[in-house]
Amino acid sequence: MRRWLIVFTSLLMVFVLAACGGGGGNGGGSGQADQLARGQEVYTAECAECHDQGVGPDVTSASAPFLTDFANAQELFSFTHDNMPMDAPGSLTDDQYYDVVAHMLQSAGVLPADTVVGPDTAAGITFGQ
Ligand code: HEC
Repeated sequence: MRRWLIVFTSLLMVFVLAACGGGGGNGGGSGQADQLARGQEVYTAECAECHDQGVGPDVTSASAPFLTDFANAQELFSFTHDNMPMDAPGSLTDDQYYDVVAHMLQSAGVLPADTVVGPDTAAGITFGQ
């Protein structure tokens, strides 16, 4: 039985993450909540007019094709940065692109807990398909 080891390791990670987030750094749960709120705003203002109207593919559910079209969140960021909004590619800041990527990941159910999506974390968020 190695279950106790998994439980212990999980608890340890929770404590480490909590310690990092509590220091006011760029990690932690509230950082993710803030990013998701911003990402939702970007999506509503810049993306929903097409992606919620069937003009663009579904990017906000567990069956979104981006989960198989891209290997990780950095690839999704690069594509989105270079091509979206389709009528004004590259018109947002990098931070806004990472925020809206976080929104898409969350909506598709693949955003890891307590992870803020950015240049340091995106490549590590893989879609596993
Ligand atoms: C003017 C309409 C329009 C707007 C606005 C728009 N998109 Fe798109 N989007 C499209 C279309 C059409 C496609 C399909 C293009 C293709 O496959 O080459 C697409 C494709 C995508 C894809 C690739 C999906 C996949 O699996 O291949 C992503 C991700 C995406 N859009 C995200 C966004 C985001 C995020 C925004 C807002 C910042 C946005 N789009 C705004 C029309 C739009």
